[in-house]
Amino acid sequence: MPTSDAAVSFARDIKPLFRPIDVLHMKPSGHFLDQYAYMSDPKNNHENAQRVYESLIGNPPKMPPGGPYWTAQQLELYASWMQGGYLP
Ligand code: HEM
Repeated sequence: MPTSDAAVSFARDIKPLFRPIDVLHMKPSGHFLDQYAYMSDPKNNHENAQRVYESLIGNPPKMPPGGPYWTAQQLELYASWMQGGYLP
């Protein structure tokens, strides 16, 4: 697992964090969790990636509904991916 300053890759590190059921349930509302183009879209300050992050944090987190919620380590990895420049 990369440390916070290693290059974090969407395909290698982030995409596998989403379960098939997450991808399936979010697709109809236009949230394409498994698609790099959607997740890395720079428009509105990377709004798509930011909204996903905000849905995963909080107490309790909003997503996935009822859990299991992401661990601190998973959230840190996602944050590092954003800070690292949304690399593929
Ligand atoms: C890692 C998993 C998931 C992520 C990252 C995620 C992400 C999101 C995001 C970003 C939104 C929009 C919230 C906003 O407008 O700010 C949302 C809404 C929603 N999600 Fe998910 N989702 C996940 C899993 C699921 C699952 C498994 C279900 C169903 C069982 C689900 C059902 C919904 C529903 C019904 C809404 C619309 C209602 C609302 O906005 O509160 N999600 N989700």
